[in-house]
Amino acid sequence: MIFKDKVVLVTGSTRGIGKEICLKFAELGADIVINDIGNEDQAELLITEINEFGGKAIFVKANVAVFDEASSLIEQAIEEMGKIDILVNNAGITRDNLLIRMKEDEWDAVLNVNLKGTFNCMKAVSRHMMKRREGVMINLASVVGVIGNAGQSNYSASKAGVIGLTKTVAKELASRGIRVNAVAPGFIQTEMTKKLPDEIRAKVIDNIPLAEFGTSRDVANLVAFLASEDAKYITGQVVNIDGGMVM
Ligand SMILES: NC(=O)c1ccc[n+]([C@@H]2O[C@H](COP(=O)([O-])OP(=O)(O)OC[C@H]3O[C@@H](n4cnc5c(N)ncnc54)[C@H](O)[C@@H]3O)[C@@H](O)[C@H]2O)c1
Repeated sequence: MIFKDKVVLVTGSTRGIGKEICLKFAELGADIVINDIGNEDQAELLITEINEFGGKAIFVKANVAVFDEASSLIEQAIEEMGKIDILVNNAGITRDNLLIRMKEDEWDAVLNVNLKGTFNCMKAVSRHMMKRREGVMINLASVVGVIGNAGQSNYSASKAGVIGLTKTVAKELASRGIRVNAVAPGFIQTEMTKKLPDEIRAKVIDNIPLAEFGTSRDVANLVAFLASEDAKYITGQVVNIDGGMVM
């Protein structure tokens, strides 16, 4: 129960990697703030699952891409749970297209959720963490933010942005006792990657030395480690979790 009495807020967490991160922290004793833009029914089920581990959980509906909604999310979480020890910026979307065909709204939507949403939540929680002189922020980047990926100019730019944001805020807040890191998954089996056609999936697997997609649990295990005291000397890092795809 290494996270007993800790409060963890995970954005975009009613399904996929975010949900698994909530369950992992709950298993280790934390209280959880679930957030999503919708999916209230799944949030209710997740609250029940978390309660079974003995922890408290609430759901706050908010669109992290909207500055005021992200601020209210953080305010409500602090009001109801007393504090936020760990913020995990997980909410993310894809709108894939080749540059030549990419529409302005596809670019804007992805940058707004993945990059601006991360900024909005980091900014909103930073004053609270600075006052307490402790806190951990973990951002979900992606290996494509490092190596690029045809058809994902918007998504890879947003994730490269998340990496720059992570390193900068890590430098700004280190002296206040706050650590900021990013995890960069490769291909993880979730709703987001279910959309991939079989032939693309086969090609992807050919390029993964460990020859399979990762699981949400794999990512959740890494996030929990980075949030733990065992990682107290790690900040400003981007940790790939990709079966060896990028090395
Ligand atoms: N699945 C992968 O292979 C993979 C690889 C690299 C990085 N990632 C990153 O991991 C994170 C989680 O991915 P996933 O595969 O679990 O995705 P997912 O689509 O299964 O879940 C994303 C969740 O975010 C929520 N969300 C979307 N927009 C939101 C908003 N504006 N405000 C609040 N919530 C919002 C969605 O409703 C959904 O519940 C994302 O940031 C994604 O970019 C995933």
